[in-house]
Amino acid sequence: KGGKLLILPGDHIGPEVVSEALKVLDIIEEATGAKFERDFDLCGGASLDKHKDSVTEAVLQKSVEVDAVFFGSAGGPEWGHSQPNPESGLLRIRHKMQIFANLRPCNFASKSLIHRSPIKPEIISGVDFTIIRENCGGAYYGSKVEEEDYGCDPWEYRRSEIERVVRVAGALAMQHDPPLPVWSVDKANVLANSRVWRRITHEIFEKEFPKVNIRDQLADSLAMLLITKPTAFNGLIVTDNTFGDILSDESGGLTGSLGLLPSASLAGPPAARGAEPGLGRNSVGGVVGLYEPVHGSAPDISGKGLANPVGQVLSLAMMLRYSFNMNHEAEVVEQAVAKVLDSKADGGLEVRTGDLGGKAGTAEMSEAIQREVRRL
Ligand code: NAI
Ligand code: MG
Repeated sequence: KGGKLLILPGDHIGPEVVSEALKVLDIIEEATGAKFERDFDLCGGASLDKHKDSVTEAVLQKSVEVDAVFFGSAGGPEWGHSQPNPESGLLRIRHKMQIFANLRPCNFASKSLIHRSPIKPEIISGVDFTIIRENCGGAYYGSKVEEEDYGCDPWEYRRSEIERVVRVAGALAMQHDPPLPVWSVDKANVLANSRVWRRITHEIFEKEFPKVNIRDQLADSLAMLLITKPTAFNGLIVTDNTFGDILSDESGGLTGSLGLLPSASLAGPPAARGAEPGLGRNSVGGVVGLYEPVHGSAPDISGKGLANPVGQVLSLAMMLRYSFNMNHEAEVVEQAVAKVLDSKADGGLEVRTGDLGGKAGTAEMSEAIQREVRRL
């Protein structure tokens, strides 16, 4: 058990929360005998300062040789005029690793946080869906035209790009019994690439995942329904790069707590137990992936020990689950986080960072999580 990690803490609060999440990994190593080899390197502003580039060729090469990449966050105002900008480092790593499926869960790590949502508790309560965003194609890539009076971003999708990301949705759905329902989100009423997306998606599900309930949903109407009826989409939502970008930010807003949200970017479908080697598989039979919190480097609170470590810790749980097939350990970490966030509800001490309206610092919150992980 275990494997090789490339750890890129990045800038500002990145290193602060990454080091706390790695303490949780230490505890898991002790408890299970798993061994995670850790190679630390630079990305973003830290890499610009040392190498005059947001990421080096050496780091890019390492990113495709390890079993998983654990990322903090990159950027900050001090690199505001840098060429390239610090955030470009992460984009180059994503492209090098071909991590085309970006997963953003939308649920509540803790029931007692439901009241932080801008949505009424009776509407948001019980929400539990994951957005799978195609992250290596579509309108964000391809040959762009930028002229004085004309701009154009070709919004293209090829069969292979559609197939590989909807297979991630199908495989994830099949990890549940009964399988999770899947919504394929597009604008097939106006976009040609959407109509191709929709047709190929149905082909793949019919052939490869006949047990999964797959439905179509228009992106604009989903944007509204996520606010008025979010629990109607409990399950998986798979969509292209543009819609996924917008809808996943919207779903992050539903929870009202940026510091709590994890993400995973995968290079292939999650491996079924005992599966053959396949697309994006790593040396330990998991899937190659990059894991990072949704939030950025939060320069406004960095260096003060105030950052909420939960988004980074929950990203670690996703890494254990998808890259190392350690589902049980992932659940232990998620339960520990929920316990700490619910500590007041249990009549215990309230341990919460400032972004959640509490007074705890990063260390206090992290120690509480570590304590719970040891107990579980
Ligand atoms: P941000 O997510 O860093 O911060 C937004 C607000 O949320 C700030 O008030 C911050 O203090 C708060 N916040 C964020 N994470 C928190 C945490 N863990 N605990 C407590 N409070 C937290 O977004 P912002 O300010 O737009 O960007 C700051 C820098 O981060 C920029 O340079 C941006 O480009 C970069 N960034 C990097 C990302 C990445 O590495 N993937 C993603 C988003 C932004
Ligand atoms: Mg976005």
